[in-house]
Amino acid sequence: MALVLITGGTGTLGRHVAERVSRNGDDVRVLSRHPHPSEPGVQHVVGDLATGRGIAEAVTGVDVIAHCAGGPKGDEDLTRTLVTAARRAGEPHIVSVSVVGADRVPMRGRIDRTLFGYFAMKLATERVVQQSGLPWTVLRASQFFELIETVASTLAKSPVVPTFRGLKFQPVDVETVADHMAGLIRAEPAGLAPDVAGPDAADMAVFLREYLRATGKRRAMLPIPVPGAAAHAIAAGAITAPDRAVGRKTWAEFLRERRH
Ligand SMILES: NC(=O)c1ccc[n+]([C@@H]2O[C@H](COP(=O)([O-])OP(=O)(O)OC[C@H]3O[C@@H](n4cnc5c(N)ncnc54)[C@H](OP(=O)(O)O)[C@@H]3O)[C@@H](O)[C@H]2O)c1
Repeated sequence: MALVLITGGTGTLGRHVAERVSRNGDDVRVLSRHPHPSEPGVQHVVGDLATGRGIAEAVTGVDVIAHCAGGPKGDEDLTRTLVTAARRAGEPHIVSVSVVGADRVPMRGRIDRTLFGYFAMKLATERVVQQSGLPWTVLRASQFFELIETVASTLAKSPVVPTFRGLKFQPVDVETVADHMAGLIRAEPAGLAPDVAGPDAADMAVFLREYLRATGKRRAMLPIPVPGAAAHAIAAGAITAPDRAVGRKTWAEFLRERRH
């Protein structure tokens, strides 16, 4: 039986990873910035990767770290804090989640960095993991349906829904990503693992239109051309993984489930 620390174990992905690790019979330690009650087999610890508070205690005695924490200010520094503490505590295997295409979205100018800097940030975070000196695995996943839903519901507040023209996505259900994470947690360190993406790759507008249909909203769509090298690469499929369409659940099925 292993002790698995799950950073971000309260988040969209980490919550499902924690469930699976626990079901596999391993002990779970969930890190959060906020206190939560512990239950049998699932210990909750308080810590903040932005300040380092509680992190030395959180990594003590763990065999594996499933790193699912992320924040808008960037995961690179959070991850550096985590791996520094982990190295002091021993040699846990770190399994970290990144994004499909992290190394395929070019950052040539301000527009690239402003709109798509997330991809560069995830690539820099991967490097922190790879250079940590810990045994490591990185799993790149495409956008979770939950994220597309959040974007769609925000855009649909306006009577005219703007879309980035031609940008191609291949979103995936988060449980498929959690299944793959859980498998990697039990396996030997694998380096860069095969990508995980959903069943359909399409323009952003296709997903938005399906969302509007499923929610019964009538909106005009306004495709906006996006300049820059990053947008060009994304339109050409840089953040999709057609040969790794391992998620079975479709966007339409996800939306149907959400409405019941
Ligand atoms: N969402 C996507 O579409 C997508 C796609 C590919 C990859 N990813 C990657 O998957 C990971 C998880 O994404 P998600 O959507 O599940 O995130 P999420 O739902 O926003 O959850 C973020 C988690 O990070 C934790 N966290 C944030 N700042 C922290 C800090 N300073 N110290 C400790 N914990 C902190 C939060 O815990 P508390 O609030 O409880 O402290 C929360 O559990 C991220 O690395 C993200 O880049 C996401």
